[in-house]
Amino acid sequence: MDNKMGNIQSLRGMKDLMDKEGELFNYFISKASAISKNYDFSYLETPILEETALFKRSVGESSDIVGKEMYQFIDKGENDVCLRPEGTAGVVRMFIQNKLDRAGGTRKYFYHGPMFRYERPQKGRLREFHQFGCESFGEASVYEDANMIIMICEILKSVSIGYKLLINSLGCKECMPPYKEKLVAHLENLHLCEDCNRRILTNPIRVLDCKNESCKKELRNAPKITDNLCSSCDTDFIKLKNILDENGITYEVDTNLVRGLDYYTKTAFEFVSDEIGSQSAIAGGGRYDRLCEFLGGRPTPAVGFAIGIERLLELIKIEPQEDEVLYIGAMCEEALDLVFSLVASKRKTMKVLSDFKSRSFTKHLENAKKQNATVVALVGDNELRDRTIWIKNIQANKEIIIPIEEF
Ligand code: HAM
Repeated sequence: MDNKMGNIQSLRGMKDLMDKEGELFNYFISKASAISKNYDFSYLETPILEETALFKRSVGESSDIVGKEMYQFIDKGENDVCLRPEGTAGVVRMFIQNKLDRAGGTRKYFYHGPMFRYERPQKGRLREFHQFGCESFGEASVYEDANMIIMICEILKSVSIGYKLLINSLGCKECMPPYKEKLVAHLENLHLCEDCNRRILTNPIRVLDCKNESCKKELRNAPKITDNLCSSCDTDFIKLKNILDENGITYEVDTNLVRGLDYYTKTAFEFVSDEIGSQSAIAGGGRYDRLCEFLGGRPTPAVGFAIGIERLLELIKIEPQEDEVLYIGAMCEEALDLVFSLVASKRKTMKVLSDFKSRSFTKHLENAKKQNATVVALVGDNELRDRTIWIKNIQANKEIIIPIEEF
């Protein structure tokens, strides 16, 4: 084996989620999953690798994700494939492939897993990150958009995270094309950055989202999408705001919120926090009523969202509630067999720590405290002889000796 090359490190922008972060990750998934089930969503797992064409057709060729950030390659069977940059496209592919678009009715799924985008890594921006997402199919009513938003609020509240909710409407196939024409006519007279000038040709509404300060100034008088909605989109947007108001959800209308993926129509939203630097979005989503059709399925209204778990972990300040942790140790070689069977039987109902080595009383106590055990149980020569076990509750600082049968 060649060991001259030094230690192998994880790839840039990819990280291990370990120890406390690993615990919090699991804690968040279990909280968010439980809330999603209450809202009648069921768990879905789709492949991480999909045909590249799926993302080109859904996320859009003009988006940064498809244009610059895909982990794309040709596999051994000459298929053009890529690691999924987001979850929605795969869920819609599954929906159509299983003919659920023909079944009618509503279907609701939640999922979580890794996503891959070859972006420039920085705080809050990774190349492999995890999302928790939900997708709801078959419900055209704006109540479902509100439902999604309220559900995210509940998920974020369950892990005590503060946020600001931004909402917008991106119109539909009736009102978006004339709005784009109006916008382009306005943009052509402005002095914008190179990226914006490219976007005027590929996807002009993305210009509204430019973070460049001088572009922001130039764009001050740009026509707003919300002033150019058709009556159906306008009525829906007013209704959405009313439902949110009536349910005590605070939001801001941000007419520059356009989202970085091309499949949205009507409602678009983002949850942001100023505590994670420039990458402030914790969650994003919206309605995508035309995507199913774009991917070859029957027209099906749909709405969904995804939460970025690593960004969220940076904000979680609470400690996940630890259950009782038992530490069992042997203080002589002869007690190891008994300790082994006690550990196996106790593990059926609780978390048990043990290293199956004979150690001194003090060393065991030290180990137990280091590993955050809440209860320590030890067996030595005396206990073996008397068929008893010594137990200490660390938090209460109480000790007892009980017969082994009672343990
Ligand atoms: P998105 O806004 O691209 O939407 O991503 C959702 C969330 O994923 C973001 O708000 C952010 O928290 C997290 N995220 C995105 N990129 C990165 C990154 N490079 N590093 C760390 N976290 C990141 C979607 O992906 C849509 N599929 C959401 C959706 C579902 N819309 C409808 N249904």
